[in-house]
Amino acid sequence: MNIEGLRIVITGAGAGLGRALALALGRRGARVALVARSAGALEAVAAEVAAAGGEGHAIPGDVGDKEAIHRIAAQAMAALGGVDVLVHNASTLGQVPLRSLADTECEALERALAVNVLGPFRLTRALLGPMRLGGDALVLMVSSDAAVEPYPTWGAYGASKAALDHLARIWSAELDGHGVRVVTVDPGEMDTAMHADAMPDADRASLASPGEVAERFVEIIRHAGSIPQGQRVAAQGFSAGVRP
Ligand SMILES: NC(=O)c1ccc[n+]([C@@H]2O[C@H](COP(=O)([O-])OP(=O)(O)OC[C@H]3O[C@@H](n4cnc5c(N)ncnc54)[C@H](OP(=O)(O)O)[C@@H]3O)[C@@H](O)[C@H]2O)c1
Repeated sequence: MNIEGLRIVITGAGAGLGRALALALGRRGARVALVARSAGALEAVAAEVAAAGGEGHAIPGDVGDKEAIHRIAAQAMAALGGVDVLVHNASTLGQVPLRSLADTECEALERALAVNVLGPFRLTRALLGPMRLGGDALVLMVSSDAAVEPYPTWGAYGASKAALDHLARIWSAELDGHGVRVVTVDPGEMDTAMHADAMPDADRASLASPGEVAERFVEIIRHAGSIPQGQRVAAQGFSAGVRP
């Protein structure tokens, strides 16, 4: 995909990977709709995207709130006139500090599922019509190794990301040949607020910066046409010639 002029919706775009991706795409002339709960953070990112040479539109909203999804989709359509790429990046860990399943409140699991699974499901459904009409759309699900590995204390988050992965597989089977490619991306460990919340004692020097990982995501979007439908990709191993 040619990034210049591409119409992209990014959830969780106020900080971390989402913000870094918006800036990396903005530098290449993309038109980006930015979704997160904090309006102030989004306005700042929208200004940074514009200063970098792209177009940024702040759309405050909680993807875990089912009442907000159609408004978010409508505002994105109004701002961009269509959607070529939808990046489901917003996410919650559930309860922090992380805890065993035996100590996890049911409401924390419900919230993780609402934000990490139902939000992407609802927003994909809301934007599917316009994306199919365009005939060459891409949905990126931002996942985690916690979707695959049963890490103790990562239960609510890991189960929700595993559900997201499987939702992506089924979307991709159903949308094959209908102009929408669905790809799941594991960004790897990054030095962000979410990582600090989950693992406050981690050695930050060992973590990738969101900016580095965002550059990998740009490559994934650029080369999406050659990634098989439904593929799960590790961002940090991805380059145009190497498909992990
Ligand atoms: N960091 C890591 O090491 C790591 C590793 C593997 C996978 N990941 C995945 O990578 C993605 C990005 O993570 P990150 O570390 O960059 O996170 P982050 O720094 O915590 O940023 C999260 C962003 O999502 C927004 N957000 C959170 N809940 C939201 C909601 N309910 N509705 C809308 N927006 C919401 C936040 O803004 P508001 O609070 O203003 O809403 C913020 O802009 C996530 O899907 C995460 O699971 C991260």
